[in-house]
Amino acid sequence: MRRKESLEVTEAEIAVHWQEEDYLYPSSQFIAQANMTDNGIYERFGLEYFPECYKEYADLLTWYQYWTTTLDTSDAPCWKWFVGGKINACYNCLDRHLAKYRNKAAIIYVPEPEEEPHVALTYQELYVRVNEVAAILRDFGGLKAGDRVTLHMPMVLELPITMLACARLGVIHSEVYGGFSGAACGKRIADSGSRVLITIDGYYRSGKLLDHKEKADAALKVAQESGQTIDKVLIWRRYPGKYVSETPIVDGRDHFMEDLLKDYAGEKVEPVSMPAEDPLFLMYTSGTTGTPKGCQHSTGGYLAYAAGTSKYVQDIHPEDVYWCMADIGWITGHSYIVYGPLSLGATSVMYEGVPTYPDAGRAWRIAERLGVNIFHTAPTTIRMLRKVGPDEPKKYNYHFKHMTTVGEPIEPQVWKWYYQVVGKGEAVIVDTWWQTETGGFLCSTMPAMQRMKPGSAGPAMPGIHPVIYDEEGNEIPAGAGKAGNICIQNPWPGAFQTIWGDRERYVSQYYEKYCKNKDSKDWRDWPYFTSDAAMQGQDGYYRILGRVDDVINVAGHRLGTKELESSCLIVTEVAEASVVPLADELRGRAPDVYVSLRPGYQPSKELEDAIVKAIETTIGKIARPKHVYIVPDMPKTRSGKIMRRVLAAISNKKDIGDVTTLANADIVEEIRKIVQGE
Ligand code: WT7
Repeated sequence: MRRKESLEVTEAEIAVHWQEEDYLYPSSQFIAQANMTDNGIYERFGLEYFPECYKEYADLLTWYQYWTTTLDTSDAPCWKWFVGGKINACYNCLDRHLAKYRNKAAIIYVPEPEEEPHVALTYQELYVRVNEVAAILRDFGGLKAGDRVTLHMPMVLELPITMLACARLGVIHSEVYGGFSGAACGKRIADSGSRVLITIDGYYRSGKLLDHKEKADAALKVAQESGQTIDKVLIWRRYPGKYVSETPIVDGRDHFMEDLLKDYAGEKVEPVSMPAEDPLFLMYTSGTTGTPKGCQHSTGGYLAYAAGTSKYVQDIHPEDVYWCMADIGWITGHSYIVYGPLSLGATSVMYEGVPTYPDAGRAWRIAERLGVNIFHTAPTTIRMLRKVGPDEPKKYNYHFKHMTTVGEPIEPQVWKWYYQVVGKGEAVIVDTWWQTETGGFLCSTMPAMQRMKPGSAGPAMPGIHPVIYDEEGNEIPAGAGKAGNICIQNPWPGAFQTIWGDRERYVSQYYEKYCKNKDSKDWRDWPYFTSDAAMQGQDGYYRILGRVDDVINVAGHRLGTKELESSCLIVTEVAEASVVPLADELRGRAPDVYVSLRPGYQPSKELEDAIVKAIETTIGKIARPKHVYIVPDMPKTRSGKIMRRVLAAISNKKDIGDVTTLANADIVEEIRKIVQGE
């Protein structure tokens, strides 16, 4: 796994010059109502009680049959949890809540156009609709347990309905993020071997009604080229009775769900009792290289882990109004909009569109209107909201008890705005570190039990036992002031089971690097390699520095890009910062800094100097950037992540590559001109 260039200091040995932040504490009000305040949980989940400790999470669910083996390691490192157990995920999210919560909102749907009414779907109504769809999938779609079906759906109510219908039948759903292109979807169809594609005619994004059905035709073409035929395309409609796509319907292949539903009104389908270790879904994610990997998640283990972490870290009670602003097309939405919250009988808010549409106050209006008290989003969104409306939250009368940040390291400056302005100083924050592969949180504070430290994810979750290794496999202790490769020593129920159809890649990418003995059936020999660099403070808190490839080597001195970006954000005018390595004759690599400004500020030489100074004073002269470019916006993926790779290519005058999948592809040429001239 060493990088190709010969390096004096290895990836795993980044010296970290991060200033320590002061702690903040949860309010006594929050603690008084919290789901988890028992310190004994860390002891109960200690390694000496592993793996049996996870019964505590599994017992949050209703099982048809208890398991006989908690953790089966005979096929290491493909771990099997709760073997012998029988369970149905849909039953756990719906049927079992009906007696108590039949009339309670399961999902509140907020369409993007503000004049369209919200839809509050009760557990009873969701149950009815899921059953009807399950009947269609089984009887019309010909789908049965173990079959894969690809969903290419945006944030519409029909997405969780369809997912739960699949789960009811034991059909493995593979939801492809709605913003992905048809071709990207087609590749995933082919890889998963789906025969049915479920899609929608259109949806709203930034005020535009997008044609989504057109992507289905492109997807089928690409899938076909890879040898996979789709027999049926099932199409939801954004507006009942109206087809909003320009794309023609293909007779015999395309079917409107609405038409089919007429024949299945009120149908009930018994949930299929599934072996706990059978797959529930696939979630494709990109690696550093190669084609997307279909992360295969299990039924029993995954659901237990999603439920446990939703209850204790998200602190969701049935009476809360919980809003996770992620897209269900990503793992966050699967675990923390659908499966986690619904398995707990919670009310989960779902928003169709862009949080800043039609203006910077939209998110806070939704929060006020619905009485949201738990809010869950990503640093990239927080930075955007801060950029477009730094004072906007004050204008709205909402009160959060709890807020989550997830997906990338958050700069302390941004964390503090989230805390003070969005949370109004009242809400506890959890910074949850995890991955598509891990099913649920790996590190986070327990919100009522541990103090918050801006910029640090916190300690490991109960039952998760991380270790930080250098390249040679030596442990880097807490408080060493050095980062390394963070690994997890033990399996856990939420961990993916394999890469769909590619066990070899699963083993080589995640388990080979620090494996002690490839023939071993003992989990102790197979640490899980996360690909993240991290360091552990003296206080036991983990600070995640980002992927190991997001690291800049300056004169043999390792600097986390996040560390540099965080320094830039100390300058008040800066809204977003991105730092990339620029090849430098003298220093090997030098940081090139890209920043965008908050509204009302203009680029100036003074500002550039202030940014350089901020980096120099927080990290040192070694980190002095070669250039500071003030740009109108950052190139971003549709999921909102800044594409450092594109900026690095511009800085280094390298081929920029294909940027057509970016959310704002036009910005790339603008930035190129700023950096390279006409
Ligand atoms: C990568 C995983 C977590 C689900 C959504 C993203 C980074 C994630 C944090 C955090 C710092 C984080 C890591 C990880 N990451 N959460 N709280 N602090 N970094 O899932 O697309 O699979 O990305 O996101 O680098 O490896 P993903």
